[in-house]
Amino acid sequence: MIDFKNNVFSLKTDNTIYRFELLNTGHLRHLFYGDCESVVDYKKGKDIGNSIKYSQDKELFLEDEMLEISSLGKGDIKEPFIELINPDGSLTSDFLYVSHVIDDREPFLEKLPSSYGSNEHLCVTLKDRNFDIVLEIHYFLYMESDVITKYARLFNNTDKKIFINKIMSNQLDFINDRKRFTAFKGSWANEFHKVSSEISQIRLVNCSNTGTSSSRSNPFVMISDNGADENNGCVYGFNLVYSGNHYESIDTSIQNKSRFLQGINPDGFSYELNSLEIFETPEAVMTCSRNGFNGMSKNMHRFIRNNIVRGKYKNNERPILVNTWEAFYFDIEERKLFDLASKAKELGIELFVVDDGWFKKRNDDTSSLGDWDCDLKKIPNGLKNIADNIGVNFGLWIEPEMVNENSDLYREHKEWTIEYDNHSEGRNQRILDLSNNETVDYLIDKISALLKESGCRYVKWDFNRIFSDVYSSSLKNQQELIFRYYQGFYRLCKELNNRFPEILFEGCAAGGNRFDLGILCFFPQIWASDNTDADDRRRMLINYSYGYPQSVIGAHVSACPNHQTGRTFPLSFRYDVAKLGCFGYELDLTKLSDVELTEIEQQIKDYKNNRKLYQYGQIERIDDHHLLVSDDEQTVMIDYSVYKD
Ligand code: DGJ
Repeated sequence: MIDFKNNVFSLKTDNTIYRFELLNTGHLRHLFYGDCESVVDYKKGKDIGNSIKYSQDKELFLEDEMLEISSLGKGDIKEPFIELINPDGSLTSDFLYVSHVIDDREPFLEKLPSSYGSNEHLCVTLKDRNFDIVLEIHYFLYMESDVITKYARLFNNTDKKIFINKIMSNQLDFINDRKRFTAFKGSWANEFHKVSSEISQIRLVNCSNTGTSSSRSNPFVMISDNGADENNGCVYGFNLVYSGNHYESIDTSIQNKSRFLQGINPDGFSYELNSLEIFETPEAVMTCSRNGFNGMSKNMHRFIRNNIVRGKYKNNERPILVNTWEAFYFDIEERKLFDLASKAKELGIELFVVDDGWFKKRNDDTSSLGDWDCDLKKIPNGLKNIADNIGVNFGLWIEPEMVNENSDLYREHKEWTIEYDNHSEGRNQRILDLSNNETVDYLIDKISALLKESGCRYVKWDFNRIFSDVYSSSLKNQQELIFRYYQGFYRLCKELNNRFPEILFEGCAAGGNRFDLGILCFFPQIWASDNTDADDRRRMLINYSYGYPQSVIGAHVSACPNHQTGRTFPLSFRYDVAKLGCFGYELDLTKLSDVELTEIEQQIKDYKNNRKLYQYGQIERIDDHHLLVSDDEQTVMIDYSVYKD
């Protein structure tokens, strides 16, 4: 419920409240965000010495205020929400209240994905004191999951261009009474390590510069009471519906007033906003629970399941698959594919996925990305023949955003790639320039034709390198490139979702290098890591679960010794870890012993009997080796400690 009384905006979800006050200067003072039972409105800021007084007749010192929106130049010296270059080259902004609207409009961003199914909406409109530049802050409430989302829209109503050097999606000012900041860091095959620091007056930053939301630093972060544990204490969770470079920071004054910001990473970003143009930020997501980390996770999980994931597979059981990657790598042959699919069918597997290596001349990772035509030397009767004759559903790996130098597409359209002189390579491939509409239009047609012809019901959509040499030959301002890339990427995904509503898409980026809410708006599940080692995946399952439900996480049983770590674990451990997710096998089933096959047959039966619980049950963490997973009917304890050495 949202109301505006006595100049105070109150945004109430089932268990939380968010309040801010309209001051007579037109500024918005943040008052409180937390659970309903502990409301303590923050106090007016003070003159703390040589602070700037906002104006001679008003006793307002922005330096010590808690603000909804901050900008440069009027005395607030903490990190700002927005940094503009005005039409006359000046840097000062001063956004003041003009009006507000409360209604039930749902989130809508023209070129970016957003959540859906919100209960109530507030838009506060502010205008710069000196220029006709208007800032709208939108708030959306999700009552049952105790989530509030926010985004901003900036209108340049002047007759000259301005530059946006920084614009965030969320600002949350709070008192730092010894709170902690937690982020999830990692690298390839080593995703989601939980890293935590006490909040002090040294600025804390979590961000990505890879051009992706990144396995190095996921956009999901938490702020918690110092003593919070899994079930007690106040915990805030934050995320961003965006797949490019993101930024989360906490800046704290010596008076222990802190500011959390989240949005597009301002490093390397600047956007030229011409007269009468509008800029829309990605949507930020936040929740809060006084029931510790598990309480916060429950809110995030519910929100992602109900208000981010969409389409046929929303809340629907995902198929058990077998994937050829760790079975064959690039060594794809029609006979082997049929043998593996037939064994998979015998065991009860429902989906057969042909990973990398199926398209023409793709014998290793040096060539052919971009040329999405079946290699008839490897698969003489084509993909459709496989789809029609394996007796289970057929799925295909693709990497549409990429091209190898050694490909027909690159030879024909070098101008469609992001590259610069002496380009530095990543996995021998380059990124197609999706900021260019022509490239996106081409991909829509090319990938649509492939999906149609192949008869596939599942797509694993990969993205195996990070951005470097960021340059587009079709773009004027290169600092807009990555943002515009994602606008093009989302258009591509949206169009393919619309054309192929029956296809289940699984996101992937060399494992979890693009594991975020932007992807999940189009692809209901994401491959979490190229590391399939059971014990490493146990850690990742637990850590991903802070911010994401297991229904969006791809997890497979693979062969031992494990291909990434060389370790060997019992098949039962590999299953017990992978079963809490979108489950599958990633090994050559035709090479297993009868004993192993019998065990796998049992696993598949167990998974089918309990699939709803394993995929959609609510996970609660007990410790690093114990989880509870429950639905309306049962609660099951998952005990990994039995597999400890
Ligand atoms: C990286 C993915 O994460 C793997 O699962 C596999 O699909 C390879 N790419 C294929 O090149």
